[in-house]
Amino acid sequence: MKKIMIGTSWKMNKTLQQAIDYCEVLASQLNDSAGAFIQPFVIPPFTLIREVTERLRRQGVDCLTGAQNIHYADAGAWTGEVSAAMVADCGATLVELGHSERRHFFAENDADINKKVHSALRHNLRPLVCVGDSLQEKEWGVSSESVIRQMKIALAGLSPTQVASVIIAYEPVWAIGEGGTPASAEEAQAVHHALRQALIARYGSQIAQSVTLLYGGSVNPQNTRQLIRCADIDGLFIGRAAWLAADFCQLIQSVSAMLDEQGALSTDHDRAMS
Ligand code: PGA
Repeated sequence: MKKIMIGTSWKMNKTLQQAIDYCEVLASQLNDSAGAFIQPFVIPPFTLIREVTERLRRQGVDCLTGAQNIHYADAGAWTGEVSAAMVADCGATLVELGHSERRHFFAENDADINKKVHSALRHNLRPLVCVGDSLQEKEWGVSSESVIRQMKIALAGLSPTQVASVIIAYEPVWAIGEGGTPASAEEAQAVHHALRQALIARYGSQIAQSVTLLYGGSVNPQNTRQLIRCADIDGLFIGRAAWLAADFCQLIQSVSAMLDEQGALSTDHDRAMS
């Protein structure tokens, strides 16, 4: 069953105590909020992955964890870096790759991200690959071309089965963070549709439908439901609006209630559930 995924990256935020407090709130609210059709996930900084993963597991919270980056090498003389094997050893199952802040501030390019995708899969981590268009690309009308190119390079050399396990997050650079303008549901759906069509053309319909396509960039309580209603949006990747645990649970609760109202099995998200 392909669940709707709703998760957050904490970026470079939270001390150990703040992470523990966050986990306490998830332990008391999350399983009730998420219902049967939503898979929550949290992506803390490296220093907190093991603690968060173990706490959530001990408390029976159904929430995946991941890292915000890895190096592409398995081990070696790469001072300051963290490998996929180390992240897997902390108990995480996801790894976010190619976020626009990594591309912009740390000069990550598509070839690096492809190597990281391969490394993640070698160590049984599920890659969550971020792709995004700049404001200028949007104005030039090449948003879809730009993100399809990023996605194709990220997935190069993978087997169809590996592709099916990948999560792609469409995160318009112009929508992310303070000063970002959230994409409208129509804008997001148009790009998600283009990504899905590109996957169908390359890998066939079954694999393409298995790939989880998330939207991220100024997701907030006002736009959550409209975004989730879009046929090719399989979930949400949230920053600021989910950094307080209670807000994260409330967003999930809001989507869960909507799915209950409309009868989840009649939505477009039942594609892979039957
Ligand atoms: P935001 O961040 O929700 O705070 O805009 C999203 C992201 O960077 O993934």
